[in-house]
Amino acid sequence: MPIVDETIEEYLHGLQKSRDPVLIEMEERAEKQGFPIIGPLVGRLCKQLAMSINARDVFELGSGFGYSTWWFAHAVGEGGRVVHTDGDAKKSADAKGYLKQAGLEPRVHFEVGDAIAILKKYPGPFDVVFCDIDKHGYPEALELMRSRVRVGGYIITDNTLWSGRVTQPAAKQNADTKGVVKYNQTAFTAPDLLTTIVPLRDGVAVSLKIADDSKRRR
Ligand SMILES: C[S@@+](CC[C@H](N)C(=O)[O-])C[C@H]1O[C@@H](n2cnc3c(N)ncnc32)[C@H](O)[C@@H]1O
Repeated sequence: MPIVDETIEEYLHGLQKSRDPVLIEMEERAEKQGFPIIGPLVGRLCKQLAMSINARDVFELGSGFGYSTWWFAHAVGEGGRVVHTDGDAKKSADAKGYLKQAGLEPRVHFEVGDAIAILKKYPGPFDVVFCDIDKHGYPEALELMRSRVRVGGYIITDNTLWSGRVTQPAAKQNADTKGVVKYNQTAFTAPDLLTTIVPLRDGVAVSLKIADDSKRRR
């Protein structure tokens, strides 16, 4: 189920004009290989949210070949940091190549392995934590992200409408859909978060961290 009408989606894409050739190269690769990247509309939203709070330190869970990283690396500016994580060493190496080409590599720290295990090693607090890992891992990721983002910071999570599968009856949901459903329920009821799902592309959950959570720190 497409979340945004195709005509509207095309119109929105048409509004974004001048763009970095490296970004375009990554988009073409994603298209060719059928690799899921956040795309330019969600990328822009991520950059805008990060810049709106002067984010200088961002942690990404599931960065692939660095497309979402490109947007956050622009947002944090010179001297800022984005932690890129992926379980696939080849994707990490490819990301390094693209971000070097874009002149953004000095702002990016690369980690290979399970993103949740890696985030456990970083006390934070980060200005923004972004999540795009395998969907069955979303509930565990959210518990951890809540303890790693500062008050006034954002947790941003992609695919939270999951092509509409979040509306399936529970009996039909697979592990990934259940993961996204549980994520959304927690994000909307957690006392330390103020969450909205922006129905852009596949649904982006934006949670503003509104209260301290030191007792939950793990
Ligand atoms: C949807 S793609 C990410 C795309 C990237 N955020 C972007 O928009 O350019 C998901 C990536 O996360 C990685 N991944 C999935 N689960 C992971 C996990 N638990 N830990 C680390 N990487 C993971 C996959 O290897 C894949 O490259």
